[in-house]
Parts: sequence; structure tokens; C-alpha cells
Amino acid sequence: MTRIPHETSGEPNPLRALGLDTLRRRTSMKWRTYPEDVLPLWVAEMDVPLAEPVVRAVTDALALGDTGYPAGTAYAEALADFAGKRWGWAGLAVERTAIVPDVMLGAVEMIKLVTGPGDAVVVNTPVYPPFFEFVTHMDRQVAQAPLGPDLRIDPGTLEESFRRAVADGRRAAFLLCSPHNPTGTVHTAEELSTVARLAERYGVRVVADEIHAPLVLDGADFVPYLSVPGGESGLSLMSASKAWNLAGLKAALAIAGPAAGADLARLPEEVSHGPSHLGVIAHSAALRDGNAWLDALLAGLDDNRSLLSDLLAEYLPGIVHRPGEATYLAWLDCRALGLGDDPAQVFLHRGRVALNSGLPFGTGGAGHVRLNLATAPEVLTEAVRRMAAVLE
Ligand SMILES: Cc1ncc(COP(=O)(O)O)c(C=O)c1O
Repeated sequence: MTRIPHETSGEPNPLRALGLDTLRRRTSMKWRTYPEDVLPLWVAEMDVPLAEPVVRAVTDALALGDTGYPAGTAYAEALADFAGKRWGWAGLAVERTAIVPDVMLGAVEMIKLVTGPGDAVVVNTPVYPPFFEFVTHMDRQVAQAPLGPDLRIDPGTLEESFRRAVADGRRAAFLLCSPHNPTGTVHTAEELSTVARLAERYGVRVVADEIHAPLVLDGADFVPYLSVPGGESGLSLMSASKAWNLAGLKAALAIAGPAAGADLARLPEEVSHGPSHLGVIAHSAALRDGNAWLDALLAGLDDNRSLLSDLLAEYLPGIVHRPGEATYLAWLDCRALGLGDDPAQVFLHRGRVALNSGLPFGTGGAGHVRLNLATAPEVLTEAVRRMAAVLE
């Protein structure tokens, strides 16, 4: 069996490892949606090689023909250990977890456990567009509770949404995005405690999408929702897929707080048949052995975050940007540029840069774009120059 040797030296910045020629050979959505002359800084895929322990684990599995169905709790154990070391959270109980195919399908299943058809699912807009698509597809109603002007949860707005959601005696859920996509907001322990208090008061069940949790940059701390007072009845979805770029290796974990274990126990068994065994192997290896790689990535993202601020100040001072504390996504307010409600279309057609349009992110999305920073500094620089050229 061919084994890939361990890398023992310090980790280089993975964002500087691959050239555009190599990346353009990729066949994933980021690289195959637009023509070759377009710089793709949109969908949440990163321009990085995989962490070596992940490659080794998957390669070893392939060499062994270990491609059957997943078994056991290796993923949950690796995440529990990671959570203890990274976030000082010892409350992730392996027996209150379930593997699910991915975070969005996991979120759908959690919402189904605690609400019925026609019930409301509250979301903080602007938010990751599948929060609308998946929720409406499962016959629930999306209720928007926009973030405040500071891009943080507004307790008054959230309370009003909760009050309305349960007004007819209906059940309701709050699909919390923590850290928040697209703004990169990291909710504080105090903010999350307020969420828990309001949820308890109105009987709203909290489902926390914490997929970006490992991607918190210097200067902020991730707080797991299930760890805050009142968070015990929450359900969380976590995954290694964003932080280690493993979206194509399907797997995620659903985690129940101490008071939600009975709900998770009602998860239909077939849901845990969805994740791929190779996905579970890859995600477990990332969490267990991919910490040095993650640290190198976070340092590179931090540099890119500063670089973007500098580039915008120099080339596009009309864009308002509040740098996020997490994720590799930047939420750019382009309303002062006079490019209308959908500046992403203009940047694509006239600048040959693909960004996400803000419109599908809900209230607060018009006139905005989402830019994916997880690329080489040279690509980021070229993208901003192209965006600026549109205005000339
Ligand atoms: C907040 C959020 N949730 C879920 C997902 C998708 O995760 P998955 O592929 O595991 O469904 C993404 C992807 O970017 C995301 O940003």
C-alpha cells in the first residue's frame, strides 16, 4: 500500500500554494460555472491544496478498498476533542450526536424534528441563500429577522419575529448562523445567551448552523450555542467541510444539547445513511490531525482580510466593508457605487470577476456582493483591480 509520508516541517500558507493554471483544472462548481477569463471569487470553495493528513487518510482508505458504509463515532470523538482544545468546550457528548449527509440536509432534519409543516423558521438576514431554499422546500415558512446596522443580531427584532412565529399556537424554530454567513459576525456569549433566553420565553427551538466555527480569525472567540446558559435545548450542526475545503466529501454532525437528546433520538435512521464513509474518514482526519494546517490557513486568511481592506481603500473607496471576524467571506456594501441592486452582474459582465449577488441573501442584500477571500493574494489583488476598472 502506498503511504503518503507525514509532513513534519512548519505549515506553509495553503492560500499561496496553487496557481490559477492548476486551479482551472478543477471540475467543481467554483471553476466550471464561468468562462476561463472570469476570476471566480464566489461559491464557498477555497483555492488550497488539502491538508496532508486528510489526503493520507483518504488515500489509505482507497488503497485498502475501505469504501463501504460508515460505522462508529470517530467523527464525533474527533470533533469533541477539537471542541475541547479550540473552544474550551467539554459539553459535546458523543452519545448525543448523529452523522448526517451535510450541514444543510442536517439542518432540514433538525427543523423537521421540532416543527411541523407550515410552521415558521426564523432567520437573520442577510443570510446564506439555502436557508430560504431548503426551508421552503420542506414546507416551512421563512420569517426574516434582519441583523442590525452593525450586522449583529438585533434582540428587539428577533423577539418580535419569535412572538409572531408562535402567535397562533404554532411551533417555530430559529435557524441561527454562527458565525454568520455572509457578514462573518461572531456572536458573543452574551448575544447567544440573549437568543437562548428569548427562545425559551417564546418556546422557539434553536437549530444552530455552526459550520464556520473553526474559521474564527484572530481577535474573536467562537462560542458554541449549546454551551451558553439556556442553550441546552438547542440542536447544532457542525462539519469540517468549510474549514478544510471538504464539501465534496459529504459528511456532517448533528449535536443535541442535554435537553434535546430525546429529539435527536427521533431522527430517522436512514438520515445517517446519507454521509459518505470517505467523508467521515476525511472530516475526522482533518479535525484530529489538521490543526497545524488550519492555523496556517487562518493566518493566511487574516492577511487576506487586511489586504482586502487596503485594496478597497485604495481602489474602491465607495464600497463600505466591515471586515468579518470569521469565515473567508467578505460582505461588501456597494450601494454608493451607483451600480443598482445587483452589482455582482456588473462586476461579472464588465469586470470578469464572479462574486455572489447579495439579492438572494434576503432583506439587506440589495446593492451588496459577497466576495470569497480564500484565494492567493495576487488573485485577490487582481479581482479588486478588475472591479475598480468597471467604474472607470
Ligand atoms: C452557513 C452555511 N451552512 C451550510 C453550508 C453548506 O454546508 P454543506 O455543504 O455541509 O451542506 C454553507 C456553505 O457555504 C454555509 O456557509
